[in-house]
Amino acid sequence: MKEEFKLAINRAVSGHAPDFADFELPLAFSVKAFHESFPMYQKTPLVNLTNTAKAIGLKDIYVKDESFRFGLNAFKVLGGSYAIGRTIAKRLDMHFNEITYEKIMDEETRRKIGDVTFVTATDGNHGRGVAWSANRFGYKSVVYMPKGTEEIRLQNILKENADASITEFNYDGCVRLASQMAQEKGWIMVQDTAWDGYEEVPLWIMQGYTTMAIEAFEQMQEKPTHIFLQAGVGSMAAAVAAFFSDIYKEDMPKIVIVEPNRADCFYQTALAGDGERRIVTGDMNTIMAGLACGEPCSIAWDILSRCAKFYISCPEYAAAQGMRVLGNPAKGDKKVISGESGASAFGCVFEIMRDERLKDIRNEIGLDENSVCLFISTEGDTDPENYRRIVWDGAHPAER
Ligand SMILES: Cc1ncc(COP(=O)(O)O)c(C=O)c1O
Repeated sequence: MKEEFKLAINRAVSGHAPDFADFELPLAFSVKAFHESFPMYQKTPLVNLTNTAKAIGLKDIYVKDESFRFGLNAFKVLGGSYAIGRTIAKRLDMHFNEITYEKIMDEETRRKIGDVTFVTATDGNHGRGVAWSANRFGYKSVVYMPKGTEEIRLQNILKENADASITEFNYDGCVRLASQMAQEKGWIMVQDTAWDGYEEVPLWIMQGYTTMAIEAFEQMQEKPTHIFLQAGVGSMAAAVAAFFSDIYKEDMPKIVIVEPNRADCFYQTALAGDGERRIVTGDMNTIMAGLACGEPCSIAWDILSRCAKFYISCPEYAAAQGMRVLGNPAKGDKKVISGESGASAFGCVFEIMRDERLKDIRNEIGLDENSVCLFISTEGDTDPENYRRIVWDGAHPAER
């Protein structure tokens, strides 16, 4: 496959955002209050890279550094923990605003809920978040991972007492396996993607992600002109986009979705332009492991199709470049340790600003010296060996 930058434009989107009732500000506050009830809660830093922004022709850059989230090196735990909290609240017939860490840990709660097992499929980060939450709360978890998963990702999940394994399937196949096992064994599936008939838990997971969006909003010193969001199944991107739609309504920043060339299902969907979701199949062998998903989440596309105008399909080298620059920004800026998926969107913008061959994309998206760009570095060095190979040795087989 020829690795290149590609842009699809969703012309149905204007500067006005529709209402997304499930992601309004009061809900985001309530989700944040849930996460704040965890004894290990700390908001993650929003790093301001002004000097780097100026060096590449932008006004300002903000990077939300999710490597600090609950000591798990990625944002995903926000979704899994909230979904498990909501599952428990529902079983206890309790209003979701009342569920807290303390309530979940209560002996009485444990007795009422009894023995349950949570099951999920993951490239690593989501499964680690589900396993961590289940383990903290005193429940079992089963986690299926795609073939080719790095051993360290498996080990990190096994450490959370999960029954975790690397399967023979790709990510989408693992999701099907988890769903089948949940039905057969009566386990509770906590999956970060939705399809027809499975939407309640994925919605809770997406709502869980709004904690990082509301934190970023509170930490920002100025309004962003552009928000860049990397997508696997698109749940994270859609949750953040829906949250900011509620904030900025009439005067929306441009939402730009970023995916690897090898798993660009949203780009393909936007390109086709008929509203039907497109599916990418095969191994999706990309260094951006968190983004190696071929089937758009149904709830995510419903949201993004109405508020995200731009869809970039990017080459592998963009993610690698993003990791290097975030780890070594312009003098005076703070560094961000960002992994392959975490740095992908930033890496794209870095290349788009510096490579003259990409100036049409730059102009189309409207990136210039007045642009204030928000990124979410969704993970740190979740695969430390690969991180060093890329950042120290400056090379990766998948690069140009
Ligand atoms: C680090 C990282 N970033 C981004 C994503 C994309 O999230 P989503 O699958 O909700 O699009 C993932 C998904 O696992 C991830 O692990």
